[in-house]
Amino acid sequence: MPVTHVSHRGLTLPAVGLGTYKLKGAVGAEAIARGVQLGYTLLDSAYNYENEGTVGEGIRACGEPRGGLIVTSKLPGRYQRHDDALVTVQESLYRTGLSNIDLYLIHWPNPAQGLYVEAFEALLEAREAGLISHVGVCNFLPEHLEALKDATGEYPEVNQIELHPYFPQTEALAFHRERGIITQAWSPLRRGGELFEERAITAPAARLGVSPAEVVVAWHVAIGSLPIPKSAHPDRQLANLRAQDLELTPEEVAAITALGRPDGRMKNQDPAVYEEF
Ligand SMILES: NC(=O)c1ccc[n+]([C@@H]2O[C@H](COP(=O)([O-])OP(=O)(O)OC[C@H]3O[C@@H](n4cnc5c(N)ncnc54)[C@H](OP(=O)(O)O)[C@@H]3O)[C@@H](O)[C@H]2O)c1
Repeated sequence: MPVTHVSHRGLTLPAVGLGTYKLKGAVGAEAIARGVQLGYTLLDSAYNYENEGTVGEGIRACGEPRGGLIVTSKLPGRYQRHDDALVTVQESLYRTGLSNIDLYLIHWPNPAQGLYVEAFEALLEAREAGLISHVGVCNFLPEHLEALKDATGEYPEVNQIELHPYFPQTEALAFHRERGIITQAWSPLRRGGELFEERAITAPAARLGVSPAEVVVAWHVAIGSLPIPKSAHPDRQLANLRAQDLELTPEEVAAITALGRPDGRMKNQDPAVYEEF
């Protein structure tokens, strides 16, 4: 049985999705088309990545029917006002060339701006209008999620957060699980580097005869996180996707989680104070 994630409103997502940050232009569209042909069914994009057009082109170029593909985009901080948010969703549709976007996320809460509830309400309206099918957020802390629930009676269906072995977000995962919110992990591989040298990762990689990146993907799947690794290369795309079937022992999973540290964020982007427009 393939692993899937199901939200409180029935959104069903696969075990692994494809990140697309920096995949742009003809090369990016080809990489995205390859990803879909290899079996990815969840594509993560954002208005601010300036590649929604590339995602749309990649989907058309791969020649597969759209059915079953889940396309994601994100609302930038500068467009969180109600009317701006609705226009931005329309603009995302024009850029992708799609008539509906499956999953639309608020990119950052930007709490000092005080507009994320208004933005969420606008996205619920866009859902009512059929422009998008599901509404989620990124980088929301529990207090932000509770503010949405208090104002609208609804939690978002997805919270996409920074999550990797140096920042395993164990409490956020449990908080989301109890509320039917799917946890997606951004920068799930922490963009490689020193993480891939850790013994807790290289040891299972040697045991299984796979790369450190594949072990990290398998760890995400084991802890209930949905990773969206980005790769421009078909061999790595395929390896990352297939890694969902690798079996780590409970001890191996625990040893990787133990790499977590309070300052493990990649760029110290704490959603309580960080703002992105
Ligand atoms: N919501 C947010 O605020 C937010 C923030 C950041 C990112 N994101 C999303 O999350 C996605 C993933 O995060 P990310 O792109 O920052 O980082 P990532 O997926 O952790 O790492 C991507 C890097 O790892 C390399 N890589 C991928 N697979 C590999 C493998 N099997 N072996 C070795 N290296 C491998 C890629 O290189 P190659 O391409 O050369 O293979 C790329 O340099 C983004 O693309 C974006 O869609 C969301």
